[in-house]
Amino acid sequence: MLSMKNISKVYQSELVETHALREFNLQVSEGEFVVVTGPSGSGKTTFLNVAGLLEGFSQGEYLLDGVDVSSVSDNESARIRNEKIGFIFQGFNLIPDLNLAENIEVPLRYRGFDSKERKRRVEQALEQVGLASRLKHLPPQLSGGQQQRVAIARALAGEPRFLLADEPTGNLDSLMARQVMELLENINQAGTTIIMVTHDPELARRAQRNVQIVDGQVCDFTSYQKSRSTTSTTAEPA
Ligand SMILES: Nc1ncnc2c1ncn2[C@@H]1O[C@H](COP(=O)(O)OP(=O)(O)O)[C@@H](O)[C@H]1O
Ligand SMILES: [Mg+2]
Repeated sequence: MLSMKNISKVYQSELVETHALREFNLQVSEGEFVVVTGPSGSGKTTFLNVAGLLEGFSQGEYLLDGVDVSSVSDNESARIRNEKIGFIFQGFNLIPDLNLAENIEVPLRYRGFDSKERKRRVEQALEQVGLASRLKHLPPQLSGGQQQRVAIARALAGEPRFLLADEPTGNLDSLMARQVMELLENINQAGTTIIMVTHDPELARRAQRNVQIVDGQVCDFTSYQKSRSTTSTTAEPA
């Protein structure tokens, strides 16, 4: 469970003050798949970075699984991030001269897992994304869609409870984008909570919940979406 109340995030430089998030309120429950859309510069990446404990915030309250993250030390914050959160980025961020297995292993080494546990997690994660037979390939030998699946495997190998994806299909053609979306939907059905930023209206329409960020604030269309997508009810949005 992720709960943000009245979060503000201000970037301050000598000349300008940018309010990237203002009075930002959002709750995401265990098991949800939330798709975030909104104009460029509206605060989507800032929100993901704050949610994933990569960045702090100026004001407000953020509870992650009931823990007030603003009150924990940097070390504790890093520990929570490593344990609970997986990230996927638009640009894949794979290391080109490490093979797939080694790429997935990097963060596991950093977390201190022994070689047996690393091997188990690498194999399981590659299996989950359908690339078990390619563990010795190098990233440049794969298509963009396959590279993004490796990046997803790298995130999954951490066995995160929350997967945060920032425009993960932004560099992919529409077929590969759909395949990556289907993979994320399967991962969500297996129990991982997912928050995904996208510009792709087709993907946004598929989501159980659509949150729009405009000018650092949330417009939550959940109830509207649900009433439209549930065929067994004729209820109109309030
Ligand atoms: N590190 C930073 N320093 C200063 N301003 C930033 C920084 N990161 C983002 N911003 C500003 O915060 C606002 C929100 O940015 P961002 O969250 O990246 O938007 P989005 O992902 O929706 O395009 C923008 O005005 C952007 O210029
Ligand atoms: Mg962004």
